[in-house]
Amino acid sequence: MTSPTIESILHEDRLFAPPAEFSEQAQLKNLEAYQALYERAKADPEAFWAELAEQELDWFQPWEQVLDWQPPHARWFVNGKINISYNCLDRHLTTWRRNKAALIWEGEPGDSRTLTYAQLHREVCQFANVMKGLGVKKGDIVGIYMPMIPEAAIAMLACARIGAPHMVVFGGFSAEALRDRLNDGKAKLVITADGGWRKDAIVPLKEQVDRALENNSAPSVENVLVVQRTQQKIAMQPGRDHWWHDLQQGVSANCPAEPLDSEDMLFILYTSGSTGKPKGVVHTTGGYNLYTHVTTKWIFDLRDTDVYWCTADVGWITGHSYIVYGPLSNGATTLMYEGAPRTSNPGCFWDVIEKYGVTIFYTAPTAIRAFIKMGEHLPNARDLSSLRLLGTVGEPINPAAWIWYHRIIGKERCPIVDTWWQTETGGIMITPIPGAIATKPGSATRPFPGILADVVDLDGHPVPEGEGGYLVVRHPWPSMMRTVYGDDDRFRRTYWEHIAPVDGQSLYFAGDGARRDQDGYFWIMGRVDDVISVAGHRLGTMEIESALVSHPAVAEAAVVGKPDEVKGEEVVAFVILEGAFLPSEDLDKALKKHVVAEIGALARPGQIRFTDALPKTRSGKIMRRLLRSLAAGEEISGDTSTLEDRSVLDKLREGA
Ligand code: WT7
Repeated sequence: MTSPTIESILHEDRLFAPPAEFSEQAQLKNLEAYQALYERAKADPEAFWAELAEQELDWFQPWEQVLDWQPPHARWFVNGKINISYNCLDRHLTTWRRNKAALIWEGEPGDSRTLTYAQLHREVCQFANVMKGLGVKKGDIVGIYMPMIPEAAIAMLACARIGAPHMVVFGGFSAEALRDRLNDGKAKLVITADGGWRKDAIVPLKEQVDRALENNSAPSVENVLVVQRTQQKIAMQPGRDHWWHDLQQGVSANCPAEPLDSEDMLFILYTSGSTGKPKGVVHTTGGYNLYTHVTTKWIFDLRDTDVYWCTADVGWITGHSYIVYGPLSNGATTLMYEGAPRTSNPGCFWDVIEKYGVTIFYTAPTAIRAFIKMGEHLPNARDLSSLRLLGTVGEPINPAAWIWYHRIIGKERCPIVDTWWQTETGGIMITPIPGAIATKPGSATRPFPGILADVVDLDGHPVPEGEGGYLVVRHPWPSMMRTVYGDDDRFRRTYWEHIAPVDGQSLYFAGDGARRDQDGYFWIMGRVDDVISVAGHRLGTMEIESALVSHPAVAEAAVVGKPDEVKGEEVVAFVILEGAFLPSEDLDKALKKHVVAEIGALARPGQIRFTDALPKTRSGKIMRRLLRSLAAGEEISGDTSTLEDRSVLDKLREGA
């Protein structure tokens, strides 16, 4: 994949200045403009955010205090009243944007739909009334388990409109994973579809919902609303299940946005950590609205003529913040595509860009690496001249992939914004501002104004330039997560107790390693915990281990990530079997299938290695570092003196 000529001319500190013609027209036109904002925000973050909140958003009632910071708990825009669905829809209706395309949607089979702001508003209001009709009230949690269709965005905005926090569960998660989340959030309603298209096959979403709810195993769920998408036969349970289109018949489109408190919960979104079950990350209304609005505006340098396309799924934070809320709050045209590049249509992404004249394209490094493999003849055969800005998110981008993206897709004309952030941060934290900051392939460059990021040691002290350390944030920011749903203690432990407070100041610990270079650019080095990233999807190794040991044949399991050219990492599981079981190909298959059933296809181990012992310390801790080396086929280096039984390593090597 890596062309040696490209790598050899590439120095990590090679700078790509923003193209002059881009900068001239950009909102932030040069480094000085960025620097001025950054310094102003640093000197007085509260004044900075308050000014933007007033300028950029509509409030029903002003706040009384910008920030109430009781570490680790922040409240932003205290007692302000606001509604993000109002800011995404209603306020545009009194402007020329009323009939502008808000949402352009392209389905996998080639069907399509465009909704103007007025049309989207109407659909959202109607659907909000449908939910009200089912008894959904402010504070009730609504599960959304949907394909990438307009109704997913409509459902989210309708929830936001009435103050019912949504809990979107990615359609690739299994029935088991869905059930766990529905139960954790005590969801009252589930919105789904009969099915969704995924690489020319149908994902049976409603069937999975049925399985998640069978035998009353998610008792909080009273109703299921089903969008008809794929038309296949599904069972509808009378009284519980309803077709979206049936209930929408004749429903009023009058549903004023509920004035919500800034700190009313907007959504819960689950994400994996190093321990235990996935955590329900809680985001609230006002600060999240502001931060996603401003970041979308400056990082994507939005103009009214843009056709903006983020290829994420709405099941992830990227879809929440940068398909739905950020772009719509700005009155932009956001594009949603149901399909993924597939053998039957490997050039589909480039077709979509050509068809709609996409100007801003935001995708993941794993996708870029897959495109490289498919060959540049595919993008080269399409007219990509509408593009003016490119973005990446989700994992570190290797310089070779960056250069390919720059040359083949951006034709050396388009700046690339490599955006670092997390489900927990709500919005982009470290990123180039495209007209202002020169880029270096593989670096997310500089913090967004108002974000006081640093690289420190465990005592909270900054590490010297060029050295690795822990990525932290020093000051609260508006879209930071507020807590772990139902487990505030876990919130403290996971994010606020790893790094010692400095001068009484708590630091947010992101879980990533990073270093900073001589220009103050950040280089993200990847997770420092037991979280792995498979095709940009975040997975806890322990989560997969728990799934494995829940199979009767498995006595013990240890999971690590193995570097993969396209997916970033692949899951490798070391498995000790119960006495009565012997390693076999069938068991290998059965265990992989079991993980898929417990979590979802995204967690399927690429490799299962049967073994009869695992490398452990004398205190019984699995030495994952050694397993990672073994999985990668590397020599074991570093200290192995804490290993209890050294012969284990030889056996594992032989087994490979
Ligand atoms: C983790 C967060 C934020 C939306 C998608 C993922 C990794 C994210 C970058 C980047 C290097 C990155 C980090 C982070 N990550 N963006 N530009 N460069 N690493 O959200 O599932 O919450 O995962 O993704 O390791 O902690 P997420």
